[in-house]
This record gives sequence, C-alpha cells and structure tokens, in this order.
Amino acid sequence: MTHKTAKLILPGSRGNHEQTIELPILHGNLGPDVIDVTSLYTKTGYYTYDPGFMSTGSCSSEICYIDGDKGILLYRGYPIEKLVESYDFMDVTYLLLNSNLPDQQQKNEFVNAINFHTMLHEQVINFFQGFRRDAHPMAIMVGVVGALSSFYHDSLNIHDPIERSLASYRLIAKAPTIAAMAYKYSMGHPFIYPQNHLDYATNFLHMMFAVPTSDYKVNHVLAKAMDRIFILHADHEQNASTSTVRIAGSSGANPFACIAAGVASLWGPAHGGANEAVLNMLHKIGKCKNIPEYIQKAKNKDDPFLLMGFGHRVYKNYDPRAKIMRETCHEVLEALGIKNDPLLDLAIELERIALEDDYFIERKLYPNVDFYSGIIFKAMGIPTSMFTALFAVARTVGWVSHWNEMVADPRQKISRPRQLYTGFKVRRL
Ligand code: ACO
Repeated sequence: MTHKTAKLILPGSRGNHEQTIELPILHGNLGPDVIDVTSLYTKTGYYTYDPGFMSTGSCSSEICYIDGDKGILLYRGYPIEKLVESYDFMDVTYLLLNSNLPDQQQKNEFVNAINFHTMLHEQVINFFQGFRRDAHPMAIMVGVVGALSSFYHDSLNIHDPIERSLASYRLIAKAPTIAAMAYKYSMGHPFIYPQNHLDYATNFLHMMFAVPTSDYKVNHVLAKAMDRIFILHADHEQNASTSTVRIAGSSGANPFACIAAGVASLWGPAHGGANEAVLNMLHKIGKCKNIPEYIQKAKNKDDPFLLMGFGHRVYKNYDPRAKIMRETCHEVLEALGIKNDPLLDLAIELERIALEDDYFIERKLYPNVDFYSGIIFKAMGIPTSMFTALFAVARTVGWVSHWNEMVADPRQKISRPRQLYTGFKVRRL
C-alpha cells in the first residue's frame, strides 16, 4: 500500500540535467516502510547499487516476519515460541503452505497426502550408487533433489495450483528419505524405507538409525526435539537459500531443480553450513582455558577466523530460535543421561564470554540458531556432516512455500539484477 512518497535529487550526469523525482513509499503490515524504486531506471537512467542486499527488499511476502532488533520471528503471524509449544512440524508445514493452522480433519488429510509420497522412485535410488562413499551429504542432496526434476518434469504445469501442491508435497515428503539415504550410503548400510505410520520426525530418525536386522524404537524425547528443530528451521523469510529458490524459480524453472539450487546455497558455512562449522570450532577450541585466545582471533580483522554460530544479518538481538535450541539441548542431554557434556560446557562459557565482550556488544553479535543445534545433533548420534542436510529437510517447507507464493503472484517477473560495471571500456583488438 502506498501512503507517502520519497523525494530523490539526482545530480546531472552523462548528458542528463539535475532532476528531482518522487518515489512511492510502500507500507507493509509490520516492519519498516520501503521505497519502491522499480520505476527509477525508466524515469532517470539510474540503477540502485546494493551488493548483498543490505537495504533491498526483493519481493513482498505474507509468509514470515522477523524483527531483528526485538528478536521476533513470526510464521504467518504466529510467534515461533508459541508454535513450538503447542504444534508439530506437520501443523507448521500446513500453516506455512496454506496460511492457517489445520483443524483435525485437515491435518489428517494433509499428513496422508504427504505420506503418500515418502518413497523415492526406485530408479532415483540408483543415483546414490554414483556417489563416492565419502561424498558430503549436501553434495548428494543437491544431486538427488535435482535429479527428481527428471522424474517430474514433462507432466508438470507450474501455473496449475494443484500441480504445484503435488510437487510441493513430493519435495516435503521425499527430503527426509533422501537425507537419511545419504547417511546410510556413507555408512555402507542398506537403505531403510519410510514407515508411514510414524510421524515425520520419528520416521526420519527411524530411517537414519534402524537396521533391517533388528527392531528399532525411536526415543520419543529425541523425536520431539527433532520435530521442534524442524519447526525452528522451517522458514526465515528472504535468506540466501530462499532467495536463491525464488531467483531460480522466477524463470519458470522446474521446482525440483529450484529446490536443489536452494540446497546448494544453504550448504555454505555463512548459512546452513554454520551448524557443522560450530562443532568443528568447538573441537578446535578444545578447552575453556583456550576461549580467550579464540575470542581474540575472532576480533582480529587480519585473521579469517569468525565465531561460528554468532551474528546474523537480520537479528541484532538474541535469535529467538537459539533460546529454544538451548532449552532443547538441555532436554536432549538429560533424556540421553549425559550429565556433563564438555562441548556444551564449552559452548555455554564461550557464549558468556562473547556476550560480555565489547566487540560483540557493539556489533550486536548474538548466538544464532546454529550455535546449539550441533551439540544436540551430536548427542543424538548424528554425524557432523549431516547437520546441514537436516536443516535442508526442514527448510524445504519454507522453500516450497515461497516458490508457490512467487509463482502464484500475477506481478511476478524474472529476477534480473543489474550491475555497476568496473571492467575495461571498449578495447581495440
Ligand atoms: N565473529 C566475529 N566477528 C563477526 C562475526 C562473527 N561470527 N559476525 C560478524 N562479525 C563482525 C564483522 O567482522 C563485522 O565487523 P566490522 O563492522 O568491524 O567490519 C561486523 O561484525 C558485521 O558483520 P557482517 O559480516 O557485516 O554481517 P553480515 O550481516 O554480512 O553477516 C553472518 C552475517 C554471515 C551471519 C556473519 O555474522 C557470520 O559469518 N557469522 C558466522 C557464521 C554463522 O554463524 N552463520 C549462520 C547464520 S544463521 C543461518 O544461516 C541459519
């Protein structure tokens, strides 16, 4: 909605006179107003310049809202803390996709619809054999999720909402199967097929840890914790991987290929790869007495070392997900009878020291969602290299929600940023 305009005075340049133009200011339901610059180039011949999108909104969206200064995260208007208290991952998935929480009948129908797609086509399973046994699970996920596009392409009309739902359900249902199979493949174990009588999180843990030679019962405290972790990671508005999915999808590309692009973006250590990096960092620090040395390294601009799991582009306050993660971490360790976990002690002490340090205070660097998740995963027996794959399973819900929202938007255009050219002027050959 437009309610005011911003005046922009542009100097004369390259044959243009000085000019003043008015740009509409758009007003969302929450958060800062935005200046609509879509007409800037046609009106003035200028582009805006914002590498890293520090001040740029790339779309309008109704799915997720973050107030980084106050540490607030809302899914479709509901605070994340309330959702994890009373709802499960399937409720939240339904909410993100459909904008309301389901009633019991809607929930049952939705869960059945997802469960219908949990198996992989047997030919997809052949893809795993092509990977090295020591391949990173994220490399396998990028490949196998992308490969799904070859199974569901010709028949797919992305402009039909029912076909979009079907593609979305397939992605949400198959993501845990692919992640668990990537793990089983690395272990040389037989794949464990999905069990549709189990809930989403329990089914995932079962596919990860069961073996065909004996019965395996998933610990319900761990399943509950995994469900909560999935909820916390399900969406986070226009982060790097979700924006990647939107950009890939903006050309009308196959949704399975778009989600594979999201998996690739998530893999990086500045994004979803941070949970793996946190654990590696804690191992490297080793002992509480070494913390000051590593804090100094993190503050030293000549040293590439960063405190992994700290800082966030949007949160300039405690990440609300990190708080829930910390509580979940204690619950999981208790359920597993782990009285003293040296890594958890190290993480708590590192957090305490960093939060009292002027460098971190001035830059508003707080623990993010990844700071505690690695400790929980490790306690559950999940190998470090799988951490980001778990994140990808959960974030698939956010990716498909944003992809659906974008494709359904009649104003949607292909994403095509411009640049400030700093290369050679025309050269003679
Ligand atoms: N350790 C030490 N210093 C840091 C850290 C950190 N983890 N994070 C930011 N800073 C410093 C920067 O050096 C910079 O200092 P300066 O102003 O003196 O130059 C200042 O804080 C601002 O940081 P930017 O890098 O400009 O912030 P940006 O928004 O670009 O980056 C990011 C955010 C990528 C998350 C960054 O904080 C980081 O790399 N953190 C570690 C990795 C991590 O935990 N990523 C997970 C993010 S959450 C997620 O994806 C689920």
